[in-house]
Amino acid sequence: MWLISVLLSLSLILISVFVFYVKWSQSYWSRKRVPHIKPTSLWGNIENPFKQKLGVKHIAKEAYLEFKKRGVPHGGIYLFAEPVYMPINPELIKNILAKDFSYFNGHGFPHDAKKDPLSAHLFNLDGDSWRNTRVKLTPVFTSGKMKTMFNTVLDCGEPLIQYINDKLKTNESLNIHESMSLFTIDVIGSCAFGVECNSFKDPDAEFKKFGYQVTKVSPRNKVYNFMKFVAPSVGKIIHVRRVTLEMENFVINMIQGVLDYRKSGKVVRNDFMQLFLELERKAKANNEDSFTIEEIAAQAYVFIVGGFETSATTMTFLLHELAYNQEIQDKLRNEVREILKQYNGNITYDGIMEMKYLDHVVNETLRTK
Ligand SMILES: *[C@@H]1O[C@H](CO)[C@@H](O)[C@H](O)[C@H]1NC(C)=O
Ligand SMILES: *[C@@H]1O[C@H](CO)[C@@H](O)[C@H](O)[C@H]1NC(C)=O
Ligand SMILES: *[C@@H]1O[C@H](CO)[C@@H](O)[C@H](O)[C@H]1NC(C)=O
Repeated sequence: MWLISVLLSLSLILISVFVFYVKWSQSYWSRKRVPHIKPTSLWGNIENPFKQKLGVKHIAKEAYLEFKKRGVPHGGIYLFAEPVYMPINPELIKNILAKDFSYFNGHGFPHDAKKDPLSAHLFNLDGDSWRNTRVKLTPVFTSGKMKTMFNTVLDCGEPLIQYINDKLKTNESLNIHESMSLFTIDVIGSCAFGVECNSFKDPDAEFKKFGYQVTKVSPRNKVYNFMKFVAPSVGKIIHVRRVTLEMENFVINMIQGVLDYRKSGKVVRNDFMQLFLELERKAKANNEDSFTIEEIAAQAYVFIVGGFETSATTMTFLLHELAYNQEIQDKLRNEVREILKQYNGNITYDGIMEMKYLDHVVNETLRTK
């Protein structure tokens, strides 16, 4: 009997200490005299992560609007016990992103280059490894290099046009979001990974399955997000794999295959893999370190994470808006036709750069408020 009461008191003490610790952590901003939003529960300003309804992006936006309304230059919120700083004043933001950038070069996302190599991509890295990777990658992301990939993107348009034409012939309705997703997958596969995906024709295309899997919210993602937002310090110690071992092997093997094939067969394609091969050649010539296969895979992987859902959704919303705004649709169509005519009917990089109204339409689609 006494054992139970000892255990009970012990757990009560532990719980009190824990609650006290959380409460104390959640007084950080008042101790620093920074304007803040009062925590609504023990979770701080976020919802109970096991019963999320709104998501942390919504909460960040609400906090931003609240600070903006109060007219304060900055503010603080709490993700559970973790105080999070939120600059509001554009001058402050400019300082962080420009003048004092060397102190702010981490995004704060957990990653582990050894145990979870695909999580160590440019977006997640911080500190020196971020800087080194950034410097090595800079020659890859010039507008000139993007221009050389243009025709690779263009080639992915053919299957899309074919797909739409087939649907038209049989009067079938067209799922725009699906079409745009398939097109985006083709572009990413082609440009970032150097593989032809055939998403439109092949319902079982492996690369397509992989792309959809990355953007799906799985229980693993939930645990990961929980660690990321609620217990980042614990997340640093117990790293939750961001990428399944199966997916990691799939990506690394695929990229290894592409690189080997390029090296042996002397095929040259205008894509991301080609740029890595060039970097490798240059590094060898200068006796410098080049990227490892895991590092290359991570940098390619991030195109799926950052480029798939975002691009597909933007194009879907754009087409949705055009469907509801006939006048704008006509005006845009006229501009496209006009400029294509100047380029003898060819879609070119320079031609698209001249499509000012198209740029407006894209910007308007991305505008949030
Ligand atoms: C498709 O629909 C249009 C208009 O409703 C109709 O004129 C045409 O005959 C249809 N074509 C086929 C193949 O069903
Ligand atoms: C347009 O494309 C065709 C076929 O690809 C090519 O022969 C022609 O030179 C191009 N015209 C211009 C102006 O680039
Ligand atoms: C669209 O937005 C981009 C990025 O903010 C900007 O550089 C560009 O000038 C905008 N285009 C137009 C036509 O306003």
